[in-house]
Amino acid sequence: MISKKLFSSKLLSWHRSENYRILPWKKETDPYKIWLSEILLQQTRAAQVIPYYLNFIGNYPTIFHLAKANDEEVFRLWQGLGYYNRCKNMLLTARLICTHYNGQFPSNHEEILALKGVGKYTAAAIASFAFGLHFAVVDGNVTRVLARYFGITESISSALGKKNFADLAQSLLPKNSADYNQAIMDFGAEICTPVAPKCTYCPFQADCVAHQTGTINLLPVKEKNKVRKTRYFHFVILKNEEGNLWLQERTSKDIWPHLFVPYLLETNKTLTPSELSKSINPSKRKTLNLQFIGSEKQLLTHQQIISHFFRLNFKNQLTLPPEGVWVKKENLRNYPFPKTIISFFEKSLYF
Ligand code: ADE
Ligand code: SF4
Repeated sequence: MISKKLFSSKLLSWHRSENYRILPWKKETDPYKIWLSEILLQQTRAAQVIPYYLNFIGNYPTIFHLAKANDEEVFRLWQGLGYYNRCKNMLLTARLICTHYNGQFPSNHEEILALKGVGKYTAAAIASFAFGLHFAVVDGNVTRVLARYFGITESISSALGKKNFADLAQSLLPKNSADYNQAIMDFGAEICTPVAPKCTYCPFQADCVAHQTGTINLLPVKEKNKVRKTRYFHFVILKNEEGNLWLQERTSKDIWPHLFVPYLLETNKTLTPSELSKSINPSKRKTLNLQFIGSEKQLLTHQQIISHFFRLNFKNQLTLPPEGVWVKKENLRNYPFPKTIISFFEKSLYF
């Protein structure tokens, strides 16, 4: 393993002599202003945050000013940043600090972390920048720099991976946590960027594992969450008096674009025939005579599709979407179907 001490000391010396990034909240130690900047920086790039930050501290120079402001005025200043929950939490927290803490920002990590809208990252930033506490920030910049420099191939998406990166980050933290935290964020934003990092100007070039092994573009490893969303499709195979089946072409905006499917209702749970009847029958006077025939499951990368098939002899009990077509059984082979539908057709004794 490469020396951790060397990493931290090289990073700090880069910060002192070569970090030219100018940001208005840098070197700030007023916890209110640091907290404000970190809330604004959540999900928003630093360059975009600057005018908002200056505007906010111009209008509300202390937490009392912000706590006393009316909601609409604050929302107006927030306009363009999106994620309005952040703004709501910011106001709640400002008011809580004024009522509960007498306007004094809490100065220990546990209490900072307990504030609404403040997660692990933001708590570490406030704790270190405002109070010099020994907490390492871990954000996308930090994990990218560490994964590349130390050649870590563990995924940053899993819970264990997150913990290991957080532990490593914490173990690298020197005494001067504020400078170090600022340094690694700036370094990730300026030098070790997601695309085309500036390795030529990088003080780590000689010992960076990713640079030496040509794996810069492979690190950090991010594994998409294996948790699949489950969708429940209820297909009703409609057969009219001539024995034709009703089909509809799917749009291009979802799975199975331009493939044909029977009448479909999607829900977030499995419905019984009578629940399905209630959901699709507008008159609701008579229950549809839906016969359950079988189910299929299909796994896609990010979702699993549970399909339930029902049969209904169609006598105008339903209003059908106008783009559907009635197809003779012998012509079904001319239509493209999703795998789930084909395997259901093959298995069922329907034909
Ligand atoms: N992103 C989040 N906090 C930051 C900070 N203090 N400096 C630079 N970028 C940041
Ligand atoms: Fe990042 Fe390149 Fe420096 Fe390695 S050498 S830390 S990949 S900028």
